[in-house]
Amino acid sequence: MAALPSTAAIGVIGAGTMGAGIAQIAAAAGHPVLLFDIRTEALPAGLERIRHGLERLIGRGKLNHSTLAALMERIRPVERLADLAPAALIIEAIVEELPSKRQVFEQLEEICSEQTILASNTSALSITALAATLQRPERVVGMHFFNPAPVLKLVEVVSGLATANEVAETIQATAAKWGKQPVRARSTPGFIVNRIARPYYAEALRLLEAGTADVATIDAALQEAGGFRMGPFELMDMIGQDINFAVSRTLFEAYFQDPRYRPSLIQQELLDGGCLGRKSGRGFYNYQPGAERPAPHTAPPGPPPTRIVLHGELGPAEPLAAALAKTVSAVQRTTGAGLIALPETALALTDGRSATQRAAEEGISELILFDLALDFSQTTRVVIAAADQTGPAALAAAAGVFQALGKTVSVIDDSPGLIVLRTVCMLANAAAEAVGQGVCTAAACDAAMRDGVNYPRGPLAWAEIIGLARVVTALDHLGEYYGAERYQAAPLLRRKRYGGNRFHD
Ligand code: NAI
Repeated sequence: MAALPSTAAIGVIGAGTMGAGIAQIAAAAGHPVLLFDIRTEALPAGLERIRHGLERLIGRGKLNHSTLAALMERIRPVERLADLAPAALIIEAIVEELPSKRQVFEQLEEICSEQTILASNTSALSITALAATLQRPERVVGMHFFNPAPVLKLVEVVSGLATANEVAETIQATAAKWGKQPVRARSTPGFIVNRIARPYYAEALRLLEAGTADVATIDAALQEAGGFRMGPFELMDMIGQDINFAVSRTLFEAYFQDPRYRPSLIQQELLDGGCLGRKSGRGFYNYQPGAERPAPHTAPPGPPPTRIVLHGELGPAEPLAAALAKTVSAVQRTTGAGLIALPETALALTDGRSATQRAAEEGISELILFDLALDFSQTTRVVIAAADQTGPAALAAAAGVFQALGKTVSVIDDSPGLIVLRTVCMLANAAAEAVGQGVCTAAACDAAMRDGVNYPRGPLAWAEIIGLARVVTALDHLGEYYGAERYQAAPLLRRKRYGGNRFHD
């Protein structure tokens, strides 16, 4: 289906944060834009916000004055909703309330042609419900931009029950023409990104609740070892605890209290205390002037390793084998179940069991587990935990191994799946669940998480690299440890693990 031609007028309703950004994108693509807001004073403010953002681009040499002037010229503020009548596509970015959005769309149906596409930028409301009271629900579609809209490439194109396929296709093609990365989704709570991203926050909150590690160490693990742009606590502080908590609560209710989406009491307490994050000066971190940022746990120097025996393949941690061979004078390789053995201890990549359980089950008393890293050859930090049966000398020796490779080591309390592996497994599980339920394709899901929230890899591609068998095993172990439905592997993940081990061709 072809994109709308750039001669087609685009209507934007709501000149706030998102509406202004969307108007800018459409105008930059050459469309005449009609911008409406119920508060007339919001229009000059919205235009000013667009101009200000563009002037910053001029400052960075990315835009010139004449392009700015031409772009601003194409955006016409209008005073009545009826002025949007000539638009081929109208995108609403008004207050996030179903009755208000429905009312606007009902009015638009009276004003516009039968061919006009009505799109909503809603991040959480059902497109099916939004369209249900309309005469032409097939012309209604979700067009979910991310904030800041002119910068972030992802657009979720959301189809409700009645949305015509050609309408979604036109929006997909139009978003692509506007330089965006459109992904198609079915209208289910959280669409793709807000749904699949939940475990990134939820697992971190759970680890904090359990006292496994502090905020700074969990953030450092996911940022430095996991390769995420920001740690979960820093990210929640940036988004705002109120906003992030509201999304979690909405999804929990929307999914009929599915335990996977259960909000956290820690976050509730922050809200109760008015600690909303950066905007209130305090959240998980303190943002008051002069406040010191807590440092992640860092292990003291351990003894450098002298003799290592590598038992079997290390799986995703295999790059460590080559690095150790270069660094340690006596490295031997033998068969086995993926262990790095030293005279004092044995090290293994977590498989979702706690170190204590694994030490008991495998009869290794001095066992240290290490966490997953995005790339073991590059990671600057490795997180480790000792089994309860293990003495301090083993822990120091394990730290010494990673320190010899130039890595900083953080020690956390023994916890199943440590930090990064369990988070990535849960993200992949959420993604597999969404794909299995036909919300989106595997490709759309991975693209959404990479382009929408800057994940270092799409969760499903990442699961393939780790190995689906390893991911399912880790989830099974987590489920067994907590006795919780929350870690139940998605049926599609389990099936793929036995049938081809791939989500992507
Ligand atoms: P905002 O509060 O910055 O702007 C909303 C604008 O809509 C205001 O200027 C308001 O006067 C106007 N408005 C309210 N009711 C109206 C009506 N009935 N008719 C015309 N104009 C009306 O809000 P923001 O952040 O731009 O959000 C807008 C929509 O975009 C919401 O649905 C929100 O969930 C969604 N969204 C927001 C994101 C964000 O990070 N802020 C990200 C993605 C989606």
